[in-house]
Amino acid sequence: MTGDTVGSVSSVQELRDGAASAVAVSSSWPEIAGPVAAALRSVAADPTGRGLPPVRSVMLTAKTLRARDEPLLRPGETGMPFDEGRTIGELAGYSVPVAHGHLLFALARHLRPRRVLEIGTNIGISAGYIASGLDAGGHLWTLEGSPARVRVAGGVLTDLCVADRVTLVPGRFEETLEPTLEEVGGFDLVFVDGNHQDEPTRSYYRMLAGRGEAVTALVFDDIRWSEGMARAWNWIVRRPATRWSLDLGRLGVVLT
Ligand SMILES: C[S@@+](CC[C@H](N)C(=O)[O-])C[C@H]1O[C@@H](n2cnc3c(N)ncnc32)[C@H](O)[C@@H]1O
Repeated sequence: MTGDTVGSVSSVQELRDGAASAVAVSSSWPEIAGPVAAALRSVAADPTGRGLPPVRSVMLTAKTLRARDEPLLRPGETGMPFDEGRTIGELAGYSVPVAHGHLLFALARHLRPRRVLEIGTNIGISAGYIASGLDAGGHLWTLEGSPARVRVAGGVLTDLCVADRVTLVPGRFEETLEPTLEEVGGFDLVFVDGNHQDEPTRSYYRMLAGRGEAVTALVFDDIRWSEGMARAWNWIVRRPATRWSLDLGRLGVVLT
């Protein structure tokens, strides 16, 4: 299987190399690097999560959503400026592919985080993968600026039977991130998948990395989406608070 492509996450070999690298640093933070390695091995062994009913269930939900061609916005409903004319099916296409979803699920399952943050809910597909991996003590706060997307995400998470583990936070990140951070106090695992620009990405890192004693795992989507994102990622891996980083092609994983 060495060198096989795994959707857009990475190759099986890169996932295995990433797991070995995490194990190599795990003597410093065994409580986090070991579980990160286990999550990477899980994806390398079964990228599309066929053998994992919760991953399969979210994947099938995403597939059903991609086939829905009705408009996102109901008559009179407001959304983000770029919601106009979009269908639910189109939006589902902007969500994480199943191999990424499996990685998010596996990180939640192996790290057993109490407090998880997602920046950018869209219609709840990545939130579904994360929440499906949480145990009874874990909770996800997910931020989204489009009220219409928040409404659809609420239905998706209810259908997946994980709504009790998720708080949907409506509003622009510029107005919701700081108060959510203050209210919750810090996060163990963060998925950054919102405003894919250089400066906003750096500011999320500044706000979230290296807070407190506990190690935080940050996962960034689309680290090569634009020149700005590539610059932000190169900046992130060089920060003193970044203790370990892994480039998985489209995704970047950081321990701080
Ligand atoms: C790529 S999508 C998230 C995809 C989702 N994580 C998934 O994989 O299922 C990014 C989301 O961020 C939201 N967004 C972008 N900029 C925002 C901002 N400044 N404040 C609030 N939401 C924003 C968009 O409306 C969009 O739904």
